[in-house]
Amino acid sequence: MNVLVTGGAGYVGSVVVEILVREQFNVVVVDSLVEGHRAAVSGDIPFIKADIADRDVMKKTFAEHNIDAVIHMAGETLVSKSMTDPQDYFINNVSKGIELLEAMRESGVKRIIFSSTAALFGNPEFTPITEDHPTNPINAYGRSKLMFEQMLEWYHKAHSLNYVCLRYFNAAGATAEHGEHHPVETHLIPIVLQTALGQREHVDIFGTDYDTGDGTCIRDYIHVEDLAMAHVEALRRMDDMGPRKLNLGNGEGYSVKEVIEAAREITGRPIPVREADRRPGDPAVLVASSERTHRLLGLKPGYPEIRQIVEAAWKWHSRNPEGYKD
Ligand code: UFG
Repeated sequence: MNVLVTGGAGYVGSVVVEILVREQFNVVVVDSLVEGHRAAVSGDIPFIKADIADRDVMKKTFAEHNIDAVIHMAGETLVSKSMTDPQDYFINNVSKGIELLEAMRESGVKRIIFSSTAALFGNPEFTPITEDHPTNPINAYGRSKLMFEQMLEWYHKAHSLNYVCLRYFNAAGATAEHGEHHPVETHLIPIVLQTALGQREHVDIFGTDYDTGDGTCIRDYIHVEDLAMAHVEALRRMDDMGPRKLNLGNGEGYSVKEVIEAAREITGRPIPVREADRRPGDPAVLVASSERTHRLLGLKPGYPEIRQIVEAAWKWHSRNPEGYKD
């Protein structure tokens, strides 16, 4: 199968590409390199530096590589930025997303796997969150992803586009080759590990008065390789499965303090912390029920423990303290 990955030079994208190649898919990457790194994509994989809204380039690429399916991972991803710059989320995740769907429609590409998010659930009414949980985003990021999911429903009805929305919980960890390097880092695990490496003086804990065991936010961290395998299985099964929206987490929640404690044990470094105000847009708890995903995709997490995930990330960060070199 010939698969085009948008955002394939990003953190999750680069691992998805690595695993697709390992699993014998033919892969083409399209990335604007606004956030991604050229060095995160192996030189022998066809790479096109382009914006997904460039319909001509996208159509040309679909035709040249005889593309069967798109994995759409390009877009804005930060909850905090979406609270101050919501327009970027509606432009990049919704408006440009329509351009991509139109290029697909005009080219007859009928399959899409979409990187969606747990952020579209808002503050959960129950945990673990199942696929049937109501969607009520409390940040513009979650809203923009929900809008794209809703557009997919209409493209399915009107144009028989088949889709699988994978609602990621917190992607973390690394493979030997690919890890997490954002131009401006805001994610907990890389920040904790940069502190362990001495690149930061301390970790700010955003909020210690949440209604959770230790007062800090709880998240469901899924190893990025497990997450990538879900894309592989979704591609293999989507023709039989039909359109789906699936949660993608580990089913286990860890608080900010627990993550920091795990990192202290693994790195053997003290990792100083400072208690700070809550970060706007953060739900207190996000934990997935991945029962349906595991059943439908025949998956079992390879890295169910937070220690394994932090350990994988630590190996990558200590080997690549400055991240990618571009
Ligand atoms: N946190 C801190 N200090 C930091 C950074 C983060 O306390 O320096 C806290 C956050 O407040 C949050 C938790 O650690 O409670 C996790 O924060 P991240 O920034 O690592 O991740 P988010 O939960 O905000 O968001 C991530 C992805 C989103 C995705 C979401 C789904 O960035 O794309 O997980 O759960 F939608």
